[in-house]
Amino acid sequence: MSSSLQHRVRLGVNVDHVATIRQARGTRYPDPVFAAQLAEQAGADQITIHLREDRRHIQERDLQVLRKTVQVPLNLEMAATAAMVELALRYLPDIVTLVPERREEQTTEGGLDVVANAANLANVVAQLRNKDIVVSLFIDPEASQVAMAAQLQVHTIELHTGDYCNARSQAVQHHHLTQLRLAALQSHDLGLQVAAGHGLDYRNVGAVARLPHMAELNIGHAIVAQALLVGMERAVRQMSEAMHKPMELGH
Ligand code: PXP
Repeated sequence: MSSSLQHRVRLGVNVDHVATIRQARGTRYPDPVFAAQLAEQAGADQITIHLREDRRHIQERDLQVLRKTVQVPLNLEMAATAAMVELALRYLPDIVTLVPERREEQTTEGGLDVVANAANLANVVAQLRNKDIVVSLFIDPEASQVAMAAQLQVHTIELHTGDYCNARSQAVQHHHLTQLRLAALQSHDLGLQVAAGHGLDYRNVGAVARLPHMAELNIGHAIVAQALLVGMERAVRQMSEAMHKPMELGH
């Protein structure tokens, strides 16, 4: 397919790490809700947040406020637990992406094993679908996982791109890209919408965006990191101006 004919891949912006900085100091800023608004203005097609069990970044209140303020679809990543399902049914995000979660992990380190957890997932998927929430499963690019995802009757699978992004050689990267391509083809054949994410950055994103049937990418860390650097000069200038601003009466 020539690049001019290529379909547009939707960009889901994950604002978790704006909240990570806020939580590091226990302040009210930076506010992921404000970041989500700016992301939307800049063309984000979707806002993605992961409400983790340990609440290390996004808080329940963020979900509550984002649900009221975000105009594009809101995608809630969460573990397939009873407590999280209760929250999803209370706040009704447009999309729920079910992800595995271990407290000790730095980030989501692997896809959800939908084969091993099929019974629990079938129950969770049914509860969410019952409320018209679009359900996505975050899985590794493996044939058995894709096949089970289709059996679970979800709308979307999000392919875990971590192994591709972490590859240290071109050969290994190529191998993982092939796995992603095969999984994308299989998913499409089975009627699933194809998304991908995890570890994508400004250099490695292009090849994933060009995979067949790719509809959506969810990207967080690289965008928040880049936002810090491209905003640093302006932020320092603003602080310097604040230091030398004439004092207002009463201060
Ligand atoms: N998609 C899913 C399902 C995730 O769990 C994450 C991480 O929260 C992302 C995408 C975004 O990953 P990154 O922050 O590495 O871009």
